[in-house]
Formats: sequence, structure tokens, C-alpha cells
Amino acid sequence: MKLIDEINKRRTFGIISHPDAGKTTLTEKLLLFGGAIQEAGAVKSNKIKKGATSDFMEIERQRGISVATSVLAFEYRDIKINILDTPGHKDFAEDTFRTLTAVDSVIVVIDVAKGVEEQTEKLVEVCRMRNIPMIVFINKMDREGKDAFDLLDEIEQKLHLRVTPLSFPIGMGYDFKGIYNIWEKNVNLFTGDPRKDIEETIEISDLSNPELDDLIGNKAADTLREEAELAQSVYPPFNQKEYTEGHLQPVFFGSALNNFGVRELLDCFVDIAPAPRPKESDTRIVNPEEKEFTGFVFKIHANMDPKHRDRLAFIKIVSGKFERNVPYLHVRHNKKLRFSSPNAFFAEKKEIVDVSYPGDIVGLHDTGNFKIGDTLTQGEELNYKGVPSFSPEHFRYINNADPMKSKQLEKGIDQLMDEGVAQLFRLELNNRKIIGTVGALQYEVIQYRLEHEYGAKCTYENLNVHKACWIEPEDEKSEEFADFKRVKAKFLAKDKRGQLVFLADSQFSLQMTEQKYKHIKFHYTSEF
Ligand code: G4P
Repeated sequence: MKLIDEINKRRTFGIISHPDAGKTTLTEKLLLFGGAIQEAGAVKSNKIKKGATSDFMEIERQRGISVATSVLAFEYRDIKINILDTPGHKDFAEDTFRTLTAVDSVIVVIDVAKGVEEQTEKLVEVCRMRNIPMIVFINKMDREGKDAFDLLDEIEQKLHLRVTPLSFPIGMGYDFKGIYNIWEKNVNLFTGDPRKDIEETIEISDLSNPELDDLIGNKAADTLREEAELAQSVYPPFNQKEYTEGHLQPVFFGSALNNFGVRELLDCFVDIAPAPRPKESDTRIVNPEEKEFTGFVFKIHANMDPKHRDRLAFIKIVSGKFERNVPYLHVRHNKKLRFSSPNAFFAEKKEIVDVSYPGDIVGLHDTGNFKIGDTLTQGEELNYKGVPSFSPEHFRYINNADPMKSKQLEKGIDQLMDEGVAQLFRLELNNRKIIGTVGALQYEVIQYRLEHEYGAKCTYENLNVHKACWIEPEDEKSEEFADFKRVKAKFLAKDKRGQLVFLADSQFSLQMTEQKYKHIKFHYTSEF
């Protein structure tokens, strides 16, 4: 098959949601349709269970699951679909943000009763800023929830999306009768039987057909006619280009648990979701159909087995053909690497593959060469953009608690940071190490893993930092910059790449500093 055909055959996407909206359930039903799994319950949720006895044990359990569910691939209607797993827990939000750099589109799951929740807002914002095409799935229609129009309003307002419903519910909760599929122009009746793989759909292309009254009763039929008409007149019609460019978001309704409305979603997804897209690098935009292979690391999983120091680096293939045992350039190290056993992922298995194509994810065994954001090419010196670090929310000094093990500690911290567990800063003044994280949970993870994987012990010390900003002076040699460095010496640090960072101790001091130093830029992410 030609490269272009392989590319057009692939859809790589992520499912994002607030925890509990139904991401795991939906993933599982999608895999069932693809025939990739045989029964429900096969996909393990990677969310932190409420009331887990010990957080870090839970995290360990999850790290296992997390490798298994990092990429779930299956085929449907001759299309190869790769689902990239995105943790829903907010302490792991940064992991999710990074994974979003490797998807070509997303499905957003929303709970019909809870509506738009906090994590949904944050994740959708990231997708919106990058113009990632999104489809919305409103889940749990078998339960009482918000009115469909109210919910669509809420989505428009809180998520700043422009929606176009491609299906419309007939009742909800106890009275849920099914959905009218605006996309395919048919009615799908709800029987509440989750064992049914394929729902019976009834072709009713014209809603005025009296058959509809026979099927769902006059009242429900009339309501549906009114609402479907209203929906189609109030909301813009579907437009492929607008969707692909991230300016229009189709909405589907259903119940993942009951396997209802999922086929409609999947069929439409396969029809409209984009194949692997071009990606921006520091030198140029790279097209998937270019002959030469390029790709980048968006995730690293380390030390699953403490006896073997092996790590798995997850590479998204951007262009060309990736082949086993062919040397590729690791651009940051300017060194050629060859991979004898690259893994590809199928549903829950991983297997060694000889060739992979744009849109695919390969897992490369790594002994410490990679860090998140690294680019591999066939020789060209380019670096992919778009794996940013955000300012952490929490900051603590990290101290060595066992002087005999300082080498181990050093190495452990280094590798955990490469993996993207947290961010390391070094204070300019005295070189002390500061760990910045998105959630408080990460400190436990780091301490636990340092001890169990590296044999090192650490303690933490609180530090009052409100935000980390990456500093970019207009002129490195200016008086103003020299003054800034002198006055703020106590608050300056370097990140892992050696970039200068200002650790503001309060919102107020950050504002004052920004106002005072007008020719210095304060960035909220490491990428500018
Ligand atoms: P998440 O990955 O987004 O966190 O959500 P997950 O799929 O784990 O679903 C969260 C809960 O919502 C689960 O119940 C799941 O069974 C339920 N759920 C998912 N889809 C639907 C739906 O369409 N209708 C209804 N009524 N419930 C749904 P749980 O009790 O937390 O877990 P479990 O014990 O059932 O696994």
C-alpha cells in the first residue's frame, strides 16, 4: 500500500473528560465495536479510586494499567484507530496536555447530569487553543439530567465552542426512548439492553412519517419533531472544513454503559475525523506524506520492572515510514540510534513491529536517551514544537535524606524529570533544587519511586512560590535586565533546559514586576 493510503487509513485521537463522565466506559464500547475486545470490563480504568487506602500504591497499580492503556488500537470499517489514553485526575493534567500534542482530534465526554465540569473546561481550552477538531459526546442519557438545549447552551458558553448537534435525544432518564440521528437521518430506539452489540436502527428519513408516532407515541413524536427542527434551525449545519479547523464541534447523545449512541458516534467519527495532520517544527511545517521519517516523544514510562532499568518512550510518527533496525537521528543528542524491538499497540497487547506509519505510536525501549519532546528524524535537524511545560502549582525544595546515596538521588531526579513527572528548577543563588508539580500527589509519587527504583531517600521543604514564569528579555545586555537580575536574584532559577525562570511569590509581586520591567517578557509556559 502507498504511504498516502496508509496515512488516510489512520485516525489518532484522545478522549477527554472530567473523571467519572464515562471515558473508560466509552473507550471500552469503541473497542467492542472494533472487535478488539470480546467483552465489557476488559479496559481498566486508570483513574484514582476514591478512598484508595494508600495513594502511592494506587499510583503503582495505575502505572501498570497506564502502560497497558497508553495506546489502544483497533480497526473499524478499514480504518486504523488509535486511542491515546489521557488521565482525568487533575494532578496528572500535565500528562494529558502532553498527550494532546500527539492526537489529531479528540472526543469530549460530558455527563448529562453534571454538565461541563472543571477538568473538561481546562482540557477543552488546551484543544481550542490548538484548534484540535473536537466531537462532543453527551453521556448517561439513561439518567435524569439537564435539558438538551440547556446543555448545548452551557457547552457553548463555558467551553466557548460552536456546536452543531448531529443527534438529538428523545426524552431522557426514565423516559429515554432513543435518539434521532441527524447525521444519518434515522431513529434509533433505546431498549436498555447493554448486551446488544448492534442496535436496531429504524430508517425514518422524514420525521413527519406517522410510523414515528406508532413507535414512540404521539407526544414523544411531536416533541421530537419540534426539537429536531429547532435544533437544526438554531445551530449551524455541519461543515467539514469548520470542524477540521477547530471552529465547529458536532455533538452526539447516548449512553456508553448501555452501548447506546456509540455506533453513531463511531461511524460519524470515521467519516469526519482527520487523518494524521501536518506538524510544526522549529524550522518548517512537516507533512505526513513526506518520504522521510520524523517523529517525537510525547510520553515516557520508566522502570515498570525495578530489576530492569528499562523505559518505554512513546513516539508519535509524524511523517514517512518508521522501520525497525534502521538508524535514526536523535536530534538533541546529534546521535544515530537504531531500534531492534519497537512496540506497536493493539487493543491491550503490544507487539514488535517492522514498519509504522504517520499517526501510529511506537514504544521504543530506552536506556535513558530520551526525554519528553525529543525529535527523531532520518537526518534532518528539526525539532518538533508543542510539548510545553506549564507553570507548576506547587513548589518544594527537595533535600537528600541519605548522604550515602546522593548519586542515586541525582540520577533518580534526573530520570523522573525526563519522564515528565514534575519539573526541576535550580535556584541561581545557591543551586538548591526545587521540584514543581501540578498536584500535591506527585511529591508522594516522587518520594516513593526514588526509594523503590533508585534506592534514594528525600525530604521536602516548603517554599512559597505562586507561579513560575519563563523570562525573555528583549535585550540580554540591557540595563533593565541587569537590574532585574540583581533585584530579583533571590527569585531566579534555571529550569532543566537552562532557561531562566522567575519564581514569583505572589500574584501581586508578579504584577508589580511585570509592570516595572517593561522590556522583559514573562511567559506562562516554557514554549515561546
Ligand atoms: P471515567 O473513565 O470518565 O472516569 O468514567 P467511567 O467510564 O469509569 O464511568 C464512571 C461511572 O459512570 C461508572 O460507574 C460507569 O459505570 C458509569 N457510567 C458510564 N456510562 C454510563 C451511562 O451511559 N449511564 C449510566 N447510568 N452510567 C454510566 P461506577 O459505579 O463509578 O463504576 P462501575 O463500578 O460501574 O465500574
